[in-house]
Amino acid sequence: MSSSVKRTYSSRSRPAHRSSSPSELASSPAKPSRKRPLTDHLSLHNTQPTKKARFTASSVAKSKPKLKSRAKGKEDRKPTGLTQLHFSLDTSVLRTCPLCDLTYTKGAPDDERMHKSHCARVERGMEWGREEERSCGKGEVREIATAVKLKHGGKGRIISVPADAGGKVGSKLAVLLETISLHLSSPALTSDILRLSKIYLFLLPSPTSSTREKIVGCVVATRITGAMAIAPASEVERFPATDTPGVLPPTATLVAVDTSTGLFCRPALLPTPMGIPRVFVPSAHRRQGIAAHLLAAAASTFVHGCKLDPRRGDVAFTQPTGAGKALMESWGAGGIRIYQE
Ligand SMILES: CC(C)(COP(=O)(O)OP(=O)(O)OC[C@H]1O[C@@H](n2cnc3c(N)ncnc32)[C@H](O)[C@@H]1OP(=O)(O)O)[C@@H](O)C(=O)NCCC(=O)NCCS
Repeated sequence: MSSSVKRTYSSRSRPAHRSSSPSELASSPAKPSRKRPLTDHLSLHNTQPTKKARFTASSVAKSKPKLKSRAKGKEDRKPTGLTQLHFSLDTSVLRTCPLCDLTYTKGAPDDERMHKSHCARVERGMEWGREEERSCGKGEVREIATAVKLKHGGKGRIISVPADAGGKVGSKLAVLLETISLHLSSPALTSDILRLSKIYLFLLPSPTSSTREKIVGCVVATRITGAMAIAPASEVERFPATDTPGVLPPTATLVAVDTSTGLFCRPALLPTPMGIPRVFVPSAHRRQGIAAHLLAAAASTFVHGCKLDPRRGDVAFTQPTGAGKALMESWGAGGIRIYQE
């Protein structure tokens, strides 16, 4: 006897809106659902005309005869309409940044400061210093590739670092990972995951200093055991998109990863050696091939002496974002799998 089991994949909780409020970041666990447009926060906005708007040039002109006719007496004056005004604290306090998408409390010094530095990291990336690299344990920072050419010109290098590195490098990586998690509304990677992970960084030389570089891309690669194969579109399309009783939805036999983009997986866990829980490129450096270069570097070096092939199903992503899905399809040519973080 077969029973139809509804499977859902998505376990990664998404905050309703990402707030930079230090108190929230420190204490609250990840909240469900991701971004909300600013308008959602403005439910109590004042729909009445403002005081200022009533003093337009035309309204002032119209009011003049009234002033002149003051002598006519009270009874001759038309009653003026009264407008109920409301305080709407909600509208002025929360702001969602169009660049980094972070929602924060406008006017709160801690929030403003935190947003400013987060936004700069999301847009342009973080600094990397050669001295930080030297402070790391011997052999911990590995140079994977040099003079890697980017599409719009410029060359950079790729290094790999153990994700649980300590010292100055560890502190830098912690800030980087926190920025990425906040940007993706993902929970922080656990210490168990970090212990099994390597971080690949794409570094561009600084135009002003020979010892400073910019981190313009980051891929976290982690050791996993199994992942699910993505169901091809033809397999998903076999299910009619109706709620007709008796007609099975795709979730009857497939695992729904993202129904809005039609991403479904076959439920069987297949042996897969490398998972990619995070991939991030600052917005000013996107579409230059940085993520693809970093993924290729991870596939070549993550397992010592064994080059992994994404087309063969050696690599898996966690639930991808829209851009992550496009990257996954382009770089993995349909062979990338999905695993649960
Ligand atoms: C997703 C992300 C890492 C891609 O980085 P990137 O360096 O711009 O990617 P690449 O330049 O290497 O892209 C390689 C190919 O992937 C595809 N691709 C990447 N980003 C895409 C996008 N936003 N839309 C459509 N296709 C995209 C394209 O085919 C691209 O090749 P092309 O530029 O020649 O068309 C970057 O957009 C990012 O950091 N986004 C925010 C964080 C995020 O969503 N991470 C994914 C988590 S799963």
